[in-house]
Amino acid sequence: MLGEKKILYSGMQATGNLTLGNYLGAMKNWVSLNEEYECFYGVMDLHSLTVRQTPAEFRKRARSLYTLYVAAGLDPEKNCIYFQSHVPAHAELAWLLNCFTYMGELNRMTQFKDKSAKHADNINAGLFTYPVLMAADILLYQADVVPVGVDQMQHLEITRDIAERFNHIYGDVFTIPEAYVGKVGAKVMSLQEPTKKMSKSDENTNASIYLLDDADTIIRKFKRAVTDSGNEILYAQDKPGICNLMDIYTATTGKSKEEIEKEFDGKGYGEFKLAVGEAVVSVLKPIQDRMKELEQEKSYIDSMIKANDEKAQYFANKTLRKVQKKLGLTERIR
Ligand code: TYM
Repeated sequence: MLGEKKILYSGMQATGNLTLGNYLGAMKNWVSLNEEYECFYGVMDLHSLTVRQTPAEFRKRARSLYTLYVAAGLDPEKNCIYFQSHVPAHAELAWLLNCFTYMGELNRMTQFKDKSAKHADNINAGLFTYPVLMAADILLYQADVVPVGVDQMQHLEITRDIAERFNHIYGDVFTIPEAYVGKVGAKVMSLQEPTKKMSKSDENTNASIYLLDDADTIIRKFKRAVTDSGNEILYAQDKPGICNLMDIYTATTGKSKEEIEKEFDGKGYGEFKLAVGEAVVSVLKPIQDRMKELEQEKSYIDSMIKANDEKAQYFANKTLRKVQKKLGLTERIR
């Protein structure tokens, strides 16, 4: 709790091009919860290093992610939007928490298993301890709520376990965070294989809608989306393709499943896919336009980065000092 408001913490990795899944599963909820909470949003550039990055491209991408947070509607004067790597307390707390995390727990993480299969030539220790850094991110700011997509739930659970373990030994040091998973859009599926999550690392670019795709590309990708046998627009278990499109349509228009079924009664897949594409374009277009404007406002973004780095450091250091003291690390002489 900071003043009257509870604390919200979240972030995204600065890896690959953000997808509609990232937007509907996380960012959209960040914007809707924004007024209610005191918010911290990190550009998770340290997490991105678990996969090899090309330095110049990586630097650009991280900056662009920062700008995208702002373009999506998060005001950097009211919210602390900052780079994870600019706040050394993240890496320091991650080390301390490593000493309170068991190998067995980390071994169970499905994302570690998936990522090690995907990057078999680079299964580094960072990939393994990734959830501990994520726990440090969240716990440093004493977050009450963490809005994420379904795929991050396991990481939230381990964060809570680590925090409870620590609190049990040293008293109430960390707030135990709750995950916030939205009712719709918490797991947007691939447009080409609707039983698989839409992912920025998918090699098939038709499988994902990228937030900066232009209108024609978005419509084309929806037209090509894999659908199921039959031709009715129904939310049914044996129709994963249509269910995914209906979820996307609900998340972008606010219409319920029943309303959608009624709207497209007697109409075919083609017409429905076009409507979903258009709904997505109308949500993404204003963000893209704002992004273009903000790219011209370099000094404004720079000033926000500077001010928010300091704010994040202040809050993060407060928790870190408390943890160090509890652990019995020698106090600094001032
Ligand atoms: P990342 O960068 O993989 O994804 C960012 C957010 O997008 C959500 N997401 C999805 N939601 C619905 N459908 C999809 N297809 C989809 N794909 C991604 C993710 O659930 C996530 O909320 N480990 C985190 C980054 C992180 C973090 C944190 C998040 C680091 N530290 C502290 C919260 C708090 C991650 O990899 O997200």
